[in-house]
Amino acid sequence: PMIYIINGPNLNLLGKRQPDVYGYQTLDDVEAGCREVAEAFGLECKLLQSNWEGQIVDWIHEARETAAGIIINPGALTHTSVAVLDALNTFEGQVFEVHISNVHKRESFRHHSYVSLRADGVMAGFGIEGYALAMRRMGNLLGQP
Ligand code: DQA
Repeated sequence: PMIYIINGPNLNLLGKRQPDVYGYQTLDDVEAGCREVAEAFGLECKLLQSNWEGQIVDWIHEARETAAGIIINPGALTHTSVAVLDALNTFEGQVFEVHISNVHKRESFRHHSYVSLRADGVMAGFGIEGYALAMRRMGNLLGQP
């Protein structure tokens, strides 16, 4: 089974952007951490990032045909995008929402997530380890023992 790891706006700058909040590790480190876990469970994974809302929507549509699960960090689109929520509502597999920072400890506008209305599980505040932990859960649900 294929798992998409979809990342939204500004996450291309992970490792350089506000390292006090998001740390020094990069999206390549996210991919390496996820791949290690995925392979242990016989899963495949594909990491994607875009700063464009429409591209995120298109990848979710693509996942309908090709993926059994989606791990998504929508960045700021978490708090604004009905379009990303609507796209995820068309997807029938597992959806896990990941935030590197603990959004609940931050500004109140980060406390609401449209995506959480669809997510089967949410990780927040575990740093980039949150992605690998979400992948581990995908493995338990969809992978080989
Ligand atoms: C984030 C939290 C969001 O509020 C923020 O807009 C991001 C990153 C996180 O991973 O902690 O871009 O999703």
